[in-house]
Amino acid sequence: MKKIFILLLLVCLMGCAKINDFIKSDELLDMGYDEKTVSMIEEYGIRENVMKYPYNENLKTLIEDPSFIKENIDEYLSLNELKTDDCLMVVNRGYTDDVEEYSEDLLNLMRTDYYLHSRHQRYLEMVNNGYSYRDAIEIVNANRDYEAYTYTIDSNLGDDILMIANKYYTLNDYVPDDLVSIDGNYGIEGYMREEAYNAYVKMADDASMDGMSLWITSPYRSYSSQNRIYNSYLENDPQYIVDTYSSRPGYSDHQTGLTADIIAPGYDFGSFAYSDEFKWLSENAYKYGFILRYPKGKENITGYTYESWHYRYVGEKVASYIHDTGITFDEYYAYFISGEH
Ligand code: DAL
Ligand code: ZN
Repeated sequence: MKKIFILLLLVCLMGCAKINDFIKSDELLDMGYDEKTVSMIEEYGIRENVMKYPYNENLKTLIEDPSFIKENIDEYLSLNELKTDDCLMVVNRGYTDDVEEYSEDLLNLMRTDYYLHSRHQRYLEMVNNGYSYRDAIEIVNANRDYEAYTYTIDSNLGDDILMIANKYYTLNDYVPDDLVSIDGNYGIEGYMREEAYNAYVKMADDASMDGMSLWITSPYRSYSSQNRIYNSYLENDPQYIVDTYSSRPGYSDHQTGLTADIIAPGYDFGSFAYSDEFKWLSENAYKYGFILRYPKGKENITGYTYESWHYRYVGEKVASYIHDTGITFDEYYAYFISGEH
């Protein structure tokens, strides 16, 4: 008897809880939310949050968006003046911190590809100097708003095949620990990191089947060999000119062991861009994980004159992305690897 009573009590309590839920859901309906939105609000367990705010006509699209994050519900609802996409962008990417007013200008900057909130002030300075949003982001992400070799930080060696070396990131005296010798059929005597070399061999073999003849003229360079090369250039050119075509020791992409200067018989660096081999590499190198590190038209971003012969291994996935989008590795690094957002 006692058991039956307890059972009845439980059923009654559960029923009351359900009825209570219905009443609350009705309140959401009364506020103006449609049934689908209400059921999603219930599913996410965010009814209490939603009821704290006046009716928000964007909530329907917000909650149905794949990038909706239920933990962010209060922030979404407190930014009710923003359109759904902007609201998701601003909140999900953490842009809410120090921006009080979201003017259309500000939103346009934030909407621009590869925008990093951490570099916001630097973009604004460029924009104030007359650069478009896109150009400002391109330049700042490559650190080209900073003077070369004055603002430098240590490259993160833990980035492995995506480690960066440029005029703002130094490898110091890093020596890769997996260098392998280049076979005499593929290039001059020298070394590359094993993964990059294996990819290179596959690429050169496939190129050869297409009648191409690729040859490595300069692979890994140690700090001291880059030092020797850079100083020998200084004997002929002033430093500001040398800096446009040679890295200072500790800053060379060649020191990563992931790079090869590639040439073909009958061509030198000046003419390689006109070879069939160059055309083949332009169409195929990314499939093997290689990118053209210093492309034409991107001199102001990479900080170096165009080098049709300088290929850098970054792995197939990243190489495909860079090939498809046309961004430089410097920009890719800032946006995807540096950890900034
Ligand atoms: N020529 C390239 C920039 C280097 O010296 O590493
Ligand atoms: Zn090179």
